[in-house]
Amino acid sequence: MKAAETRILELRAELDQHNYRYHVLDEPSIPDVEYDRLFHELKALEAENPHLVTPDSPTQRVGSAVLTAFSKVKHEVPMLSLGNAFEEAALYEFNQRVVQTISPLPNDLFSGVNVEYTCEPKLDGLAVSLLYVDGRLTRGATRGNGTVGEDITENVRTVRNIPLRLMDGGWPSVLEVRGEVFIEKAGFERVNAHQIEIGEKVFANPRNAAAGSMRQLDSKISGRRSLKFCSYGIGQVQRDFADTYYGMLQKLKKWGVPISNKLRLVSDVEGCIAYCRDMSEQRLDLPYEIDGVVFKVNNIASQRELGFRAREPRWAIAYKFPAMEELTELLDVEFQVGRTGAVTPVARLKPVKVAGVTVANATLHNMDEVARLGLMIGDTVIIRRAGDVIPQVVQVVQERRPTHARAVEIPQTCPVCGSQVERTQLIKRSKGKETISEGAVYRCVGRLACGAQLKQAIIHYVSRRAMDIEGLGDKTIEQLVDEKLIGSPADLYKLKYEQIIDLEGFAEISSKKLLKAIDDSKQPTLARFIYALGIPDVGEETAKVLARSLGSLDRVIVALPEVLTYLPDVGLEVAHEIHSFFEDEHNQNVIGALLGECQMELQDTGDLGAEFAASATLGGMLDKLNIPSVGPGAAQKLADKFGTLEAVVKADWLDMRQTLPEKQAQAVRAFFDVAEHAQRALAIEQQLKDFGMHWQSEKKVVEGLPLAGQTWVLTGSLELMSRDVAKEKLEGLGAKVSGSVSAKTHTVVAGPGAGSKLTKANELGLKVLDEEAFVGFLKQQGVEVG
Ligand code: IVH
Repeated sequence: MKAAETRILELRAELDQHNYRYHVLDEPSIPDVEYDRLFHELKALEAENPHLVTPDSPTQRVGSAVLTAFSKVKHEVPMLSLGNAFEEAALYEFNQRVVQTISPLPNDLFSGVNVEYTCEPKLDGLAVSLLYVDGRLTRGATRGNGTVGEDITENVRTVRNIPLRLMDGGWPSVLEVRGEVFIEKAGFERVNAHQIEIGEKVFANPRNAAAGSMRQLDSKISGRRSLKFCSYGIGQVQRDFADTYYGMLQKLKKWGVPISNKLRLVSDVEGCIAYCRDMSEQRLDLPYEIDGVVFKVNNIASQRELGFRAREPRWAIAYKFPAMEELTELLDVEFQVGRTGAVTPVARLKPVKVAGVTVANATLHNMDEVARLGLMIGDTVIIRRAGDVIPQVVQVVQERRPTHARAVEIPQTCPVCGSQVERTQLIKRSKGKETISEGAVYRCVGRLACGAQLKQAIIHYVSRRAMDIEGLGDKTIEQLVDEKLIGSPADLYKLKYEQIIDLEGFAEISSKKLLKAIDDSKQPTLARFIYALGIPDVGEETAKVLARSLGSLDRVIVALPEVLTYLPDVGLEVAHEIHSFFEDEHNQNVIGALLGECQMELQDTGDLGAEFAASATLGGMLDKLNIPSVGPGAAQKLADKFGTLEAVVKADWLDMRQTLPEKQAQAVRAFFDVAEHAQRALAIEQQLKDFGMHWQSEKKVVEGLPLAGQTWVLTGSLELMSRDVAKEKLEGLGAKVSGSVSAKTHTVVAGPGAGSKLTKANELGLKVLDEEAFVGFLKQQGVEVG
């Protein structure tokens, strides 16, 4: 076996092992970065050796081509559902039926018989079947109607904790694993936040999100949705491998299949009742949603004896928890103003108890969501709680709409400050064209003149990860703003002892402490300061990137959006947000006051980040301009040929035609014929130059060196410097240093004892320098010697 193949197999085994420890045992043994390193090594090796890629490699979870439809799958063993119990009494009745069947004793003797049960959470997701043939995942299917489901193999492969091949050994050659694909609460929040961001509809609940993701024809989308799998049974098997359900799940776990870490074995129905109570207490704290718990007779021989009734096993039952959904009335929709001015609709509801908690408010996300729900004030709505997050309105009950129902309208002016409310715009740029569409978010244009935004801005400014000013709680900030003691973050630094001590909850010591905390915050790092400014879409990470890449606030302030897009993870939209934040006069005044009167001193490097400096290539920039029909390849050709943007803009037609095919050459011409395009491009180039950057073009750099294109040979012994040093110096001047003499050799440096190479050089009539002449030459070139 070749080295690459051996390493690939090694890496796969190691990654599988780490996946198992992480997903099944919940005991990761290496840090994430190490996992990523191994993963990337495998990816790189597979990219170099595509014939060695196999479908069960850990790299093959990315999703594949988009399908037009799912094919059908017949379940050899039907996929059943469960009978439900809603009260504890129903569990005792279930137990009674089980006992009567498996130990047919006279009635009065039943009371002493105990049946062992397994207890598991009832996950709220999508039931799936995974078929392993010879230990390899060969098919994934939905339950469908229980007899026929859909083939979702490509999608299940993207679920990270589903093993692509089984571990250990001893598994039956055919093994159908069954279980639930679900999404955790945090993943659900993320998916919905993303849906909102891309203007798509939100999922009403985690079950819909999981099911929707699994039934995606584009498996790349499923792959992005942080789904998980948990097994609770098997379908067809080539041979039995356990006597008990508990034992069976332990075997599955050993083979790398995830099972619930809440699985318990109890000795009787009382144990089930205790489990119910315990889980219903834990319910809200679990990282995933459960709609109940499931009890199963542990002994498999007993399960067989009990059999089925219609489509439900007689050996299992689901105890359902109270629903997290309820019906109530939408009394009104109010609008809240956030830190960045976003005006968000909030539902005021007729208070209703949902799983033990009274709910009176629900989030409506944005006006697109209101429109999607078709919501009107007065409607009866279904609301839903999920974990600790604010309840959501899931659906309108159309049939119950009253005649007096009113439309929800976005206010024209800000409910807090009365400024104009404007709809945000989405800017997309493609093929040289900017398209502006309407965003889902409305914003109050009042910025810090708006009390709501000011309060939020200051709460953010003083927060721990921003300026970290201790002792300034939300209530105090509200009071300071309401009493007009502060109108911007800069005013914090002007607060006087007499003003603070008058605030609610402040005394002598706390007032002095606060003044000191404010004073101590005057030397923040540039990254903290940028984050503290609260620029829309600029979180801590982006703030760090801005600080590291641009090195000074002055550069951040003037940076053009296109220049900002050179920064890692900064897209055009964020770049525009940053740019327009600093163009705003009010923001400029606040920053001016902070750095001026307030004597804030930012800790910055003043230098451009090396990564940023290296990322600016002329080819990349030409590509960024989105000239129609000019892709990265053509952009690079232009860069190689012309070297500067100015030269591209001014290029004559002949030169352009020599560089690109006619159609592309024309497109470049037409693009720069528009004065605005040319000016904009030149302004970007100028700004990069002002920032101290120069185009990185390897070819240009080498061409510019005096010995570029020449081959030199060193022979004999050198006394004033070692061979290595001589070689280094020549290469520094752009020469290539070779070990053999040929007609292509430019110059030979010959020290004492030179033999055949010198003879050959003389024969060929090449230029030969002795060491003294060589040193003289180097000095002439400005190279220091000795
Ligand atoms: S056992 C023959 N166990 O609930 C028994 N189902 O209402 C088959 N579910 O379709 C199911 N957690 O999607 C079982 N621990 C669990 C479960 C579970 C969730 C789902 C499953 C099933 C439905 C039945």
